Amino acid sequence: MKMFTTRCLLLAAHLFSLLAFVQPSTALDNGLTLTPPMGWNSWNKFGCNVSEDLIKSMADGMVSSGMKDAGYQYVVIDDCWQVSRDPDGNIVPDAQHFPSGMKALGDYIHSKGLKFGIYSDAGEKTCAGRPGSMGHEYQDALMYAKWGVDYLKYDWCHTGKRNAEEAYATMRDALKASGRPVVFSMCEWGTAKPWLWAAGTGNLWRTTGDISDHWEGKKKWPDGGCCSLGMLDILDLQVGLEAFSGPGHWNDPDMLEVGNGGMTTSEYRAHFSLWCLLDAPLIAGNDLRSMAPEIKDILTNKEVIAINQDELGRQASRVWKEGTLEIWAKHMKDGSRSVLLLNRGASEAEITAPWTALGYPDHLSASVRDLWAHKDLGKFTAKFSAKVPSHDVVVFTIKP
Ligand code: GLA
Repeated sequence: MKMFTTRCLLLAAHLFSLLAFVQPSTALDNGLTLTPPMGWNSWNKFGCNVSEDLIKSMADGMVSSGMKDAGYQYVVIDDCWQVSRDPDGNIVPDAQHFPSGMKALGDYIHSKGLKFGIYSDAGEKTCAGRPGSMGHEYQDALMYAKWGVDYLKYDWCHTGKRNAEEAYATMRDALKASGRPVVFSMCEWGTAKPWLWAAGTGNLWRTTGDISDHWEGKKKWPDGGCCSLGMLDILDLQVGLEAFSGPGHWNDPDMLEVGNGGMTTSEYRAHFSLWCLLDAPLIAGNDLRSMAPEIKDILTNKEVIAINQDELGRQASRVWKEGTLEIWAKHMKDGSRSVLLLNRGASEAEITAPWTALGYPDHLSASVRDLWAHKDLGKFTAKFSAKVPSHDVVVFTIKP
């Protein structure tokens, strides 16, 4: 009997150690993106027209425009850099458009003090029909590590009945096994509610379908399918997700359209400010070689970027809404509040932010600074009001 019990115990211990070995790790713990990642991605402006010359010139532009100085660092090639797999199953880059190879491109990006990002998909094919990573996760992660990749955006097209949680965990584990720290950007469009399960899987996860370069309203895709979303449609879908975001694991309301031509300057200022308060990854999507001064001013406003990069990592909430007027507020690490007044309407309106909506008592005297005017406005008690032009924002900090 005693012998039997000992054997059982040994067997149980053996099974336990076996399980511990085959169990995938359950945490991301790559120590990256303690504040939201900042960078540039090719998709919004260039789609499939990517090449090493283009990517190199964007890295150059990121430095010469002052974007690097403002905190942007990841240069990410989206879909269409890959064409096939070789007989050993290795992913093959498009040699016509990337003749020097991906390692050389990564080296170039690194030589500028920037980081190198790439794109793949959890399905058989990417959204543009290029080879996906399904069944090749570990092999691809090793190849990326060889090329010096620092950031992977991982899409969800052609995944059939795959389980998202399992599929993304597989690539997370593959990246980990490659030995290279890689930011893992999950692009699953919010379909399986990744905010509920992905904090240990990805550094960021898309919360919605694709953004398109307009203020508001759904638009059909060119192939008639439904739909890309306007900036404000995406904004509305962020309400209620605040609690799921934080250092190392961010809600991603999709990349920036600032500077791509479909919105006015004030609408782009609103888009950028809102993304900053939402703790969204700040991934620019415009042509960095030829930015109009007002677009550069928006993308490099260090005071507004500082809201996004606050170490507390607490995403803003919509604290008030009446018709087309809204107040968004974000708690900052130093106890101050970043506040955004949004006017979605067609004419100028005055909006008043009462301290009580920000979690402050009425009697508190606090300094107010306008972060687009770059001006201290003095001390206020109980509330602060500002006139907000149509389709625009006023962004300020309130510091007791
Ligand atoms: C999907 C993603 C986009 C982009 C394209 C590339 O639509 O959501 O962000 O990566 O695929 O094909």
